Amino acid sequence: MLAVAVLAAGKGTRMKSALPKVLQPLAGATLVERVLASCEHLQPDRRLLIVGHQAERVEQELEGHSGLEFVLQQPQNGTGHAVQQLLEPLRDFRGDLLVLNGDVPLLRPETLAALLEQHRSSGAAVTLLTARLADPSGYGRVFASPDGQVSAIVEHRDCNDEQRRNALTNAGIYCFNWQQLSAVLPQLTTDNDQGELYLTDTVAMLNPAMHREVDDADEITGINDRLQLSQCEAVLQERLRHHWMAEGVTFVDPASCTLSEGTCFGRDVVVEPQCHFRGTSAIGDGCRIGPGCLIEDSQLGANVSVLHSVLRQAEVADGCAIGPFAQLRPGTQLGQQCHIGNFVEVKNSSLASGVKVNHLSYIGDADLGAGVNVGAGTITANYDGMRKHRTVVGAGSKTGANSVLVAPLRLGSNVTVGAGSTITKDVPDGALALGRARQLVKENWTGPRP
Ligand code: UD1
Ligand code: CA
Repeated sequence: MLAVAVLAAGKGTRMKSALPKVLQPLAGATLVERVLASCEHLQPDRRLLIVGHQAERVEQELEGHSGLEFVLQQPQNGTGHAVQQLLEPLRDFRGDLLVLNGDVPLLRPETLAALLEQHRSSGAAVTLLTARLADPSGYGRVFASPDGQVSAIVEHRDCNDEQRRNALTNAGIYCFNWQQLSAVLPQLTTDNDQGELYLTDTVAMLNPAMHREVDDADEITGINDRLQLSQCEAVLQERLRHHWMAEGVTFVDPASCTLSEGTCFGRDVVVEPQCHFRGTSAIGDGCRIGPGCLIEDSQLGANVSVLHSVLRQAEVADGCAIGPFAQLRPGTQLGQQCHIGNFVEVKNSSLASGVKVNHLSYIGDADLGAGVNVGAGTITANYDGMRKHRTVVGAGSKTGANSVLVAPLRLGSNVTVGAGSTITKDVPDGALALGRARQLVKENWTGPRP
């Protein structure tokens, strides 16, 4: 049997944030979500999350994760005190307990699998993950013999000068034999610089205590402050870009682009410099994105090009061309081969295939039929000060430059709207609609001239 406990009750004082530390976002997922995901493949029988500081908020954020047991630690008196809270819920549990610090988000699933495997095959009372860090300051130091037996862990602040020179660092990730751990947990004392109960002190009470050193020291980075947060972000971004390059995506200037965990790309996508993908987005085969785009929670079909534009919750079918300097806001749906040009904003609208909105327009709450050509500067006036209204334009219609379509409004198919018109009434199929002052020409005008 395997139980996993994630320590997530601490405040994260060093982050200086209103947000609990474990809810800080990293490449599109919170710290604690990443930690939970890293052990998912081990298929634990129990998953426990120890919460305390802003417990309700943390529980709320994780509502969607089924099978998670929340255990309250109040007050937060150290990592040992946190694990003591499991004595009650795990009273009848027999097996191994994997303890994960909620602020160590870069662990690879394979690393945890190897830790558990070593722990089980050696029969140790505890096996902990370690790394040799170039700069181990702030971390607990692990004292071990060459055969891997650990005698003690001493926190950085409790170390003397000589102990600080030991670069073998505690990752904060442990596999315990639960029966043996639960027997020693009540013996912890607060005899240390912070006056807290340290989980690390159990290691000297358990026999044998073993460690496993990770190859890639990045994996054990713990996040205590914003600097470490940014360093972890950089590592995750690089991992994501490398993954997608291996899947057939070209990044012209990889370091200038950021991705989120939920972004996926087809083959032969080219991402030019300064492009940012957030949330859950899918970019189809052969798309060309950038330079200079922000794409969030949007789905793009194949062979779409997007240049210097912002897309949020938009759906774009194959072959569309967007930008430069366009904004597709939530609820935008583009059919195949649409063209959205410079300084055009589209919101909550569906555009059928082949629609062209090439210059200086606002299309909001509208449904445009196939092949509609929206003239430069055409605006849908969708808001009467109280409510939003829809504009419907039939297939093949054209609007002249600087038209205002005042919603609610319905234009039939193959309608032509003259340039500069303000259209307030519905127009039937095939009609020409004009709504502007007639041009007046006075010949041989001899009025005052400057
Ligand atoms: C801890 C380890 C240290 C290790 C480092 C790795 C101890 C005593 N020290 O130090 O050896 O090198 O992690 O990153 O364990 N938490 C609770 N309840 C509490 C206190 C903390 O749930 O009362 C949680 C925090 O939310 C956090 C985790 O435990 O997710 C670690 O706590 P933190 O205070 O960051 O420990 P470190 O000082 O980093
Ligand atoms: Ca920490």
